[in-house]
Amino acid sequence: MSTARAADRGRRAVGLGARASLRVLLAGAVAGLLLLGLPFAAQAQQPIAIKFSHVTTPDTPKGKGAEKFKELAEKYTGGKVKVEVYANSQLYKDKEEIEALQLGAVQMLAPSTAKFAPLGAKEFEALDLPFLFADEEEYAQVTKGPVGKWLFQKLEAKGISGLAFWDNGFHMVSANRPLITPADFQGLKFRISGSKVADQYFRLLGGLPQILAFSEVYQALQTGVVDGCENTPSNYLTQKFYEVQRHISAADHAHLQYAVIVNTKFWNGLPAEIRGQLDKAMNEATDYTNSIASKENEDSIAQIEASGKTTIHVLTQPQRQAWKTAMMPTYEWAKGRVGREVLELLSKAIDSRTH
Ligand code: LMR
Repeated sequence: MSTARAADRGRRAVGLGARASLRVLLAGAVAGLLLLGLPFAAQAQQPIAIKFSHVTTPDTPKGKGAEKFKELAEKYTGGKVKVEVYANSQLYKDKEEIEALQLGAVQMLAPSTAKFAPLGAKEFEALDLPFLFADEEEYAQVTKGPVGKWLFQKLEAKGISGLAFWDNGFHMVSANRPLITPADFQGLKFRISGSKVADQYFRLLGGLPQILAFSEVYQALQTGVVDGCENTPSNYLTQKFYEVQRHISAADHAHLQYAVIVNTKFWNGLPAEIRGQLDKAMNEATDYTNSIASKENEDSIAQIEASGKTTIHVLTQPQRQAWKTAMMPTYEWAKGRVGREVLELLSKAIDSRTH
């Protein structure tokens, strides 16, 4: 772990170094133009840079969505905007990237909504409630509707603007022993990404949850710092978690979604025309990401199965029902964490077949 941290610090130092030398180069170029007597407007032709930092690999729904946004943003602005995508925690880890956004060191992120408490927006954790969404369609409807808007309003006071929700499907959960009944979770340590709602449902199953950054999970599983984790198939595949977990259960017990967020000062400071072009790019990148998520995850499950390195258990309806019953007290508990308002909005939005 210390090697990973050192490497991470090294990468960041290189990043900072590169930024510093870029600034020096820019300052030099401006000074040169001034000497030539060119008007300032003619000098200000540098593209606007958007640094988009995220923690998954480029070949995940989020990674592909970020690349799609880059392609469309650069196309629609005719090159006036340059999007630099930093994938796989290469620039910042989970909590650091949120701080970096607030400080303006990066301009765009797409964290999972389970990581929004450090932003002062723990209401987002309502989306982590167990067995909340019946399917992807229901998830999409809810986040596009009043719940999504209400959540984004919560960010405004923090200097952050929400642009879109991106999908990454339902979590699986794993350990080195089969997790079939609630009793199987007893006494196992599970990595969670940040949400207290997830903390709660693991505790109700007798598990011992702990928060770790995404980039640290593989090693924590490998060395036994934790016994298990939850995540979507595409993340199990691309982070190789399946290599160090002998059993994975698919029960669709919770959903993983991202909110694409920007620093409001930066976003509102953009020329209106450019912001419009970027909005269009984001809308299309969102449709694209949400349209590939299910298939990407299905393909990932197939690849994990084909590896022969782990066993995937698809839970039967009665087995799922037993998990659901054990986790349901999370809803009552959540009133004190996320507040009643978002829970009421959610229950209005969600089809009655779920509960
Ligand atoms: C996690 O930390 O497990 C996820 O939020 C990672 C991601 O961004 O998909």
